[in-house]
Amino acid sequence: MNLKEVLKMADEMVFAKTGQHLDDLQEAILRGTMQGEKYTKIAEEIHCNESYVRQVGSKLWQILSEELGEDIHKSNFRSAIERLRNASVVNFAQDVVVSGTFNICGEGRHPPDLPNPHPPNQETSNTKQTKTSHHDLSEMLDLGAFYDRTSELDNLTTSILQQRCRLIALTGISGIGKTALAAQLVRQIKDEFEYVIWCSLDASSTLAKFEANSIEFFSQSEKQDSPATNPKTLPLIKYLQKHRCLVVLDDIHNLFGSGELAGKYKPGYEEYRCFFKQIETLSHQSCFLLIGWEQPREVTPVKKQNTSIRTLQLTGLDIASGRQILRDYGLGEIENYSALVHRYQGNPLWLKSVATLIQELAGCVTELLPYDTILLPEDLKDILQQQCDRISEIEKQVLCLLAKESEPINLAKLLENHRITASDLLNALQSLSRRCLIEQQGSFYILPPVMRQYIKGL
Ligand SMILES: Nc1ncnc2c1ncn2[C@@H]1O[C@H](COP(=O)(O)OP(=O)(O)O)[C@@H](O)[C@H]1O
Ligand SMILES: [Mg+2]
Repeated sequence: MNLKEVLKMADEMVFAKTGQHLDDLQEAILRGTMQGEKYTKIAEEIHCNESYVRQVGSKLWQILSEELGEDIHKSNFRSAIERLRNASVVNFAQDVVVSGTFNICGEGRHPPDLPNPHPPNQETSNTKQTKTSHHDLSEMLDLGAFYDRTSELDNLTTSILQQRCRLIALTGISGIGKTALAAQLVRQIKDEFEYVIWCSLDASSTLAKFEANSIEFFSQSEKQDSPATNPKTLPLIKYLQKHRCLVVLDDIHNLFGSGELAGKYKPGYEEYRCFFKQIETLSHQSCFLLIGWEQPREVTPVKKQNTSIRTLQLTGLDIASGRQILRDYGLGEIENYSALVHRYQGNPLWLKSVATLIQELAGCVTELLPYDTILLPEDLKDILQQQCDRISEIEKQVLCLLAKESEPINLAKLLENHRITASDLLNALQSLSRRCLIEQQGSFYILPPVMRQYIKGL
């Protein structure tokens, strides 16, 4: 649901209750809340006293609570509004009026502005119509401009809907577009599921916490569906067996330790191994999409027959889409734009960072510098640092070795370096490939230009 829709909905509710439309401050509070900002930040942005902003916010939540008949506050506003919208969309489809005071337009069961490339098969759509869907997408980012990715969307849609895979890992270097791709995918296929949950993991997302939140969501939704009964709370796996659910876990690298080879659970998070094993092997009808810089070691990129696991290592956007991003920054017509997109591996975040730098310097830098110069704006260095801070000592040594080479170097040559044992070297190469920090071309390895420049500058 986009910000405009949320503001419109909130405005209608406030108007119904007070006879007045949202004022600028109320709108700023809602906008900030939807973007996950704290009161301090909202107050700063509108140059207003924080305690006054809090006061107006608290009054606003009160109005919305009374209007919606449930307790609304800053921390649950996003999820409440999303839940309500979903409930209303479903009930709207079934011709049942749930909301007396406001009428939600916009997306139907298939967003009218998006093609549905994979229409559901008959069996799925029949069962679907008799069930209500519940979406907790409050942690899913709103999509901005979205280019390309048709083949990746097709690939993921096939794995999820047709092949019914249970565990799908989407990896890639920071900024390559994993979250955006998954959000677009969810928008396209969410109506094929009874439950859709998007959960962005942070450094404190233990399995116990994730399970408790999910169970709460399932049991609340079941109560909502059949208020007369009092269904018992079940273990999470039972809900995944009972319903067709899509669960997206974003930023899954937060489950793994720093200073280790990729995909090693940090202490206190090892329970996820067993949990993902259950998701892979037990019989159920749900799908987990795991997104992050690293994946659990047991979810390997090696293709195996007859497994319900898939992995997709995301690479950059094509030249046309990269150019489109540069165009959005007014730079679509610069010379050598395709070389620029290529050098930054079609990474949309890196391109945005470089485009901002070029734009701020009045667009003339590219003409003054040799065409293969790699600009590393400070924010791009910060992004790379975050990812490099996590890697093990042995991987750092291998990166330094590779940074000295401008041409791909083969395994035999790397093994000539006697300071690293063969076994350590191979493990480090495997881990760096899984993190998408190095490129492998047959038995040759190379550090892509941006990473090389960054490592050389350390
Ligand atoms: N296909 C795309 N088209 C246009 N912009 C994109 C695309 N994919 C990602 N972006 C933009 O690039 C940035 C990084 O994307 P994100 O999905 O957050 O990367 P990741 O999750 O891999 O770190 C965001 O600003 C996002 O809007
Ligand atoms: Mg992301």
